[in-house]
Amino acid sequence: MSAALWLVVPAAGQGRRMGADRPKQYLEIAGRSVLACTLARLFAAFPGARLCLCLDPDDTRFDPAGVPFAEWRRVPGGNERVDSVTHALEAIAGEAADDDLVLVHDVARPCVTVADLARLYAALADDPVGGLLAAPVADTMKRDDGAGRVATSELRAGLWHAFTPQGFRYGLLRRALATSATADMAVTDDASAVEALGLSPRLVSGRRDNLKITHPEDLALVGQILAAQAQTEPASGEPYEAPFGALEK
Ligand code: C5P
Repeated sequence: MSAALWLVVPAAGQGRRMGADRPKQYLEIAGRSVLACTLARLFAAFPGARLCLCLDPDDTRFDPAGVPFAEWRRVPGGNERVDSVTHALEAIAGEAADDDLVLVHDVARPCVTVADLARLYAALADDPVGGLLAAPVADTMKRDDGAGRVATSELRAGLWHAFTPQGFRYGLLRRALATSATADMAVTDDASAVEALGLSPRLVSGRRDNLKITHPEDLALVGQILAAQAQTEPASGEPYEAPFGALEK
Protein backbone atom coordinates (compact mmCIF):
# COMPACT_ATOMS: atom_id res chain seq x y z
CA MET A 1 0.00 0.00 0.00
CA SER A 2 1.21 3.52 -0.60
CA ALA A 3 0.25 6.92 0.77
CA ALA A 4 -0.40 9.70 -1.72
CA LEU A 5 1.62 12.89 -1.94
CA TRP A 6 -0.25 16.19 -1.95
CA LEU A 7 1.24 19.60 -2.67
CA VAL A 8 -0.44 22.67 -1.21
CA VAL A 9 0.76 25.94 -2.71
CA PRO A 10 -0.61 29.03 -0.96
CA ALA A 11 -0.67 31.73 -3.63
CA ALA A 12 -3.49 33.97 -2.44
CA GLY A 13 -1.40 36.72 -0.89
CA GLN A 14 -1.40 40.28 -2.16
CA GLY A 15 2.33 40.78 -1.54
CA ARG A 16 1.85 44.35 -0.33
CA ARG A 17 5.44 44.61 0.97
CA MET A 18 6.59 44.34 -2.66
CA GLY A 19 4.82 47.57 -3.55
CA ALA A 20 4.29 46.19 -7.07
CA ASP A 21 1.33 46.66 -9.40
CA ARG A 22 0.37 42.99 -9.03
CA PRO A 23 0.67 40.17 -6.50
CA LYS A 24 4.23 38.83 -6.39
CA GLN A 25 3.31 35.45 -7.88
CA TYR A 26 2.58 37.28 -11.14
CA LEU A 27 5.83 39.23 -11.29
CA GLU A 28 8.10 37.96 -14.05
CA ILE A 29 11.56 36.43 -13.95
CA ALA A 30 13.15 35.93 -17.37
CA GLY A 31 9.74 35.99 -19.04
CA ARG A 32 8.04 33.55 -16.68
CA SER A 33 5.79 34.31 -13.73
CA VAL A 34 6.97 33.48 -10.22
CA LEU A 35 3.99 31.12 -10.02
CA ALA A 36 5.10 29.25 -13.15
CA CYS A 37 8.71 29.02 -11.90
CA THR A 38 7.63 27.60 -8.55
CA LEU A 39 5.22 25.06 -10.04
CA ALA A 40 7.91 23.96 -12.51
CA ARG A 41 10.30 23.15 -9.65
CA LEU A 42 7.66 21.21 -7.75
CA PHE A 43 6.65 19.33 -10.86
CA ALA A 44 10.25 18.49 -11.71
CA ALA A 45 10.60 16.78 -8.34
CA PHE A 46 7.11 15.35 -7.90
CA PRO A 47 5.42 14.85 -11.28
CA GLY A 48 2.90 12.40 -9.82
CA ALA A 49 1.78 14.54 -6.89
CA ARG A 50 -1.66 16.10 -6.56
CA LEU A 51 -1.69 19.87 -6.33
CA CYS A 52 -3.98 22.25 -4.43
CA LEU A 53 -3.34 25.80 -5.54
CA CYS A 54 -4.77 28.44 -3.19
CA LEU A 55 -5.75 31.55 -5.15
CA ASP A 56 -7.66 34.68 -4.32
CA PRO A 57 -11.25 34.11 -5.52
CA ASP A 58 -11.00 37.44 -7.40
CA ASP A 59 -7.70 36.54 -9.07
CA THR A 60 -8.18 37.12 -12.79
CA ARG A 61 -4.52 36.87 -13.80
CA PHE A 62 -4.28 33.14 -13.19
CA ASP A 63 -3.90 31.02 -16.32
CA PRO A 64 -4.69 27.33 -15.76
CA ALA A 65 -2.75 26.47 -18.92
CA GLY A 66 0.44 27.12 -16.93
CA VAL A 67 -0.16 24.32 -14.42
CA PRO A 68 1.96 21.28 -15.33
CA PHE A 69 0.32 18.78 -12.97
CA ALA A 70 -2.20 16.27 -14.31
CA GLU A 71 -4.19 16.30 -11.12
CA TRP A 72 -4.76 19.67 -9.53
CA ARG A 73 -7.48 21.94 -8.19
CA ARG A 74 -7.96 25.61 -7.45
CA VAL A 75 -8.90 26.39 -3.86
CA PRO A 76 -10.09 29.80 -2.60
CA GLY A 77 -7.51 31.52 -0.43
CA GLY A 78 -8.38 32.90 2.99
CA ASN A 79 -7.56 36.06 4.91
CA GLU A 80 -4.19 34.77 6.13
CA ARG A 81 -1.79 32.16 4.78
CA VAL A 82 -2.96 29.70 7.43
CA ASP A 83 -6.57 30.12 6.24
CA SER A 84 -5.53 29.40 2.66
CA VAL A 85 -3.77 26.19 3.74
CA THR A 86 -6.77 25.21 5.86
CA HIS A 87 -9.08 25.67 2.86
CA ALA A 88 -6.85 23.38 0.82
CA LEU A 89 -6.94 20.67 3.47
CA GLU A 90 -10.71 20.98 3.72
CA ALA A 91 -11.01 20.72 -0.07
CA ILE A 92 -9.34 17.30 -0.13
CA ALA A 93 -11.14 15.88 2.91
CA GLY A 94 -12.61 12.55 1.96
CA GLU A 95 -9.93 12.01 -0.69
CA ALA A 96 -6.80 12.39 1.36
CA ALA A 97 -6.01 9.67 3.87
CA ASP A 98 -4.75 10.64 7.31
CA ASP A 99 -1.29 9.28 6.58
CA ASP A 100 -0.92 10.92 3.16
CA LEU A 101 1.99 13.34 3.11
CA VAL A 102 1.16 17.01 2.47
CA LEU A 103 3.98 19.33 1.43
CA VAL A 104 3.07 23.01 1.79
CA HIS A 105 5.23 25.33 -0.30
CA ASP A 106 4.93 29.11 -0.61
CA VAL A 107 4.50 30.26 -4.18
CA ALA A 108 6.98 33.04 -3.42
CA ARG A 109 9.89 30.55 -3.15
CA PRO A 110 10.73 29.67 -6.77
CA CYS A 111 14.40 28.86 -6.04
CA VAL A 112 13.82 25.66 -4.11
CA THR A 113 15.93 23.00 -5.82
CA VAL A 114 14.87 19.56 -6.91
CA ALA A 115 17.70 18.15 -4.79
CA ASP A 116 16.35 19.86 -1.65
CA LEU A 117 12.83 18.73 -2.45
CA ALA A 118 14.06 15.16 -2.85
CA ARG A 119 16.03 15.34 0.40
CA LEU A 120 13.05 16.67 2.33
CA TYR A 121 10.81 13.97 0.91
CA ALA A 122 13.28 11.23 1.81
CA ALA A 123 13.75 12.62 5.33
CA LEU A 124 10.01 12.68 5.96
CA ALA A 125 9.20 9.26 4.54
CA ASP A 126 9.52 7.54 7.91
CA ASP A 127 9.28 10.51 10.23
CA PRO A 128 6.45 10.24 12.77
CA VAL A 129 6.05 14.04 13.02
CA GLY A 130 7.09 15.63 9.72
CA GLY A 131 9.41 18.54 9.12
CA LEU A 132 10.64 21.41 7.03
CA LEU A 133 13.50 22.74 4.98
CA ALA A 134 15.53 25.15 7.07
CA ALA A 135 19.00 26.67 7.38
CA PRO A 136 21.05 27.60 10.44
CA VAL A 137 21.21 31.33 11.14
CA ALA A 138 24.58 32.78 10.11
CA ASP A 139 24.28 36.36 11.32
CA THR A 140 24.28 37.57 14.89
CA MET A 141 20.66 38.19 15.82
CA LYS A 142 19.42 41.35 17.56
CA ARG A 143 16.07 41.95 19.21
CA ASP A 144 14.91 45.56 19.05
CA ASP A 145 13.37 47.61 21.80
CA GLY A 146 10.48 48.77 19.61
CA ALA A 147 12.14 52.15 19.12
CA GLY A 148 14.87 51.28 16.64
CA ARG A 149 17.55 50.36 19.15
CA VAL A 150 18.99 47.06 20.25
CA ALA A 151 17.36 45.62 23.33
CA THR A 152 19.33 42.36 23.39
CA SER A 153 21.55 40.15 21.28
CA GLU A 154 20.15 36.67 20.79
CA LEU A 155 22.45 33.66 20.78
CA ARG A 156 22.41 32.42 17.20
CA ALA A 157 23.56 28.92 18.14
CA GLY A 158 20.64 26.59 17.53
CA LEU A 159 18.58 29.17 15.59
CA TRP A 160 17.31 28.25 12.12
CA HIS A 161 15.55 30.06 9.29
CA ALA A 162 12.31 28.19 8.54
CA PHE A 163 11.77 27.69 4.80
CA THR A 164 9.21 25.77 2.85
CA PRO A 165 8.21 23.14 1.85
CA GLN A 166 6.99 21.98 5.22
CA GLY A 167 5.57 18.48 5.20
CA PHE A 168 3.25 16.67 7.55
CA ARG A 169 0.77 13.82 7.40
CA TYR A 170 -2.66 15.03 6.38
CA GLY A 171 -4.44 14.02 9.59
CA LEU A 172 -1.84 15.60 11.85
CA LEU A 173 -1.70 18.87 9.90
CA ARG A 174 -5.48 19.23 9.90
CA ARG A 175 -5.62 18.62 13.63
CA ALA A 176 -2.76 21.06 14.25
CA LEU A 177 -4.34 23.87 12.22
CA ALA A 178 -7.77 23.30 13.76
CA THR A 179 -6.29 23.36 17.27
CA SER A 180 -4.35 26.57 16.63
CA ALA A 181 -7.46 28.19 15.15
CA THR A 182 -9.45 27.30 18.26
CA ALA A 183 -6.68 28.76 20.42
CA ASP A 184 -6.62 31.88 18.22
CA MET A 185 -2.89 31.39 17.77
CA ALA A 186 -0.98 33.37 15.13
CA VAL A 187 0.39 30.76 12.72
CA THR A 188 2.88 32.02 10.15
CA ASP A 189 4.06 28.56 9.14
CA ASP A 190 2.63 25.08 9.30
CA ALA A 191 5.32 23.74 11.61
CA SER A 192 4.43 26.16 14.40
CA ALA A 193 0.89 24.73 14.52
CA VAL A 194 2.37 21.24 14.85
CA GLU A 195 4.80 22.46 17.52
CA ALA A 196 1.84 23.82 19.51
CA LEU A 197 0.63 20.23 19.82
CA GLY A 198 3.84 19.47 21.71
CA LEU A 199 5.55 17.80 18.73
CA SER A 200 9.00 18.55 17.30
CA PRO A 201 9.17 18.77 13.50
CA ARG A 202 12.42 17.63 11.88
CA LEU A 203 14.76 20.35 10.60
CA VAL A 204 16.04 19.29 7.19
CA SER A 205 19.03 21.38 6.20
CA GLY A 206 18.34 23.15 2.92
CA ARG A 207 20.08 25.60 0.61
CA ARG A 208 20.20 29.17 1.80
CA ASP A 209 19.15 30.43 -1.62
CA ASN A 210 15.59 29.15 -1.09
CA LEU A 211 14.57 32.80 -0.74
CA LYS A 212 11.03 34.03 -0.27
CA ILE A 213 10.27 37.00 -2.50
CA THR A 214 9.06 39.60 -0.04
CA HIS A 215 10.72 42.98 -0.69
CA PRO A 216 11.31 44.75 -4.04
CA GLU A 217 15.03 43.93 -4.13
CA ASP A 218 14.30 40.20 -3.78
CA LEU A 219 13.02 39.85 -7.34
CA ALA A 220 16.33 40.67 -9.01
CA LEU A 221 18.16 38.47 -6.53
CA VAL A 222 15.88 35.55 -7.23
CA GLY A 223 16.41 36.09 -10.97
CA GLN A 224 20.16 35.81 -10.44
CA ILE A 225 19.82 32.74 -8.24
CA LEU A 226 17.67 30.98 -10.83
CA ALA A 227 20.14 31.85 -13.57
CA ALA A 228 23.07 30.57 -11.48
CA GLN A 229 21.21 27.40 -10.56
CA ALA A 230 20.49 26.73 -14.23
CA GLN A 231 24.27 26.57 -14.77
CA THR A 232 25.02 24.29 -11.85
CA GLU A 233 21.85 22.30 -11.17
CA PRO A 234 20.95 20.25 -14.20
CA ALA A 235 17.74 19.06 -12.61
CA SER A 236 16.46 22.53 -11.77
CA GLY A 237 14.63 23.43 -14.91
CA GLU A 238 14.57 20.17 -16.80
CA PRO A 239 11.93 17.48 -16.40
CA TYR A 240 13.26 15.20 -13.70
CA GLU A 241 12.35 11.54 -13.75
CA ALA A 242 11.89 10.92 -10.07
CA PRO A 243 9.71 8.19 -8.60
CA PHE A 244 8.15 10.67 -6.20
CA GLY A 245 4.42 10.89 -6.04
CA ALA A 246 3.66 7.99 -3.79
CA LEU A 247 5.27 7.02 -0.53
CA GLU A 248 5.83 3.31 -0.05
CA LYS A 249 4.65 2.14 3.35
O1 C5P B 1 3.03 37.26 2.70
P1 C5P B 1 3.93 36.08 2.79
O2 C5P B 1 5.09 36.14 1.86
O3 C5P B 1 4.32 35.71 4.18
O4 C5P B 1 3.03 34.86 2.25
C1 C5P B 1 3.53 33.55 2.23
C2 C5P B 1 2.74 32.73 1.23
O5 C5P B 1 1.38 32.62 1.64
C3 C5P B 1 2.73 33.32 -0.17
O6 C5P B 1 2.92 32.25 -1.06
C4 C5P B 1 1.35 33.94 -0.28
O7 C5P B 1 0.82 33.96 -1.61
C5 C5P B 1 0.52 33.00 0.58
N1 C5P B 1 -0.68 33.61 1.16
C6 C5P B 1 -1.92 33.02 0.92
N2 C5P B 1 -3.05 33.58 1.46
C7 C5P B 1 -2.99 34.69 2.20
C8 C5P B 1 -1.73 35.31 2.44
C9 C5P B 1 -0.58 34.73 1.93
O8 C5P B 1 -2.00 32.01 0.22
N3 C5P B 1 -4.11 35.22 2.68
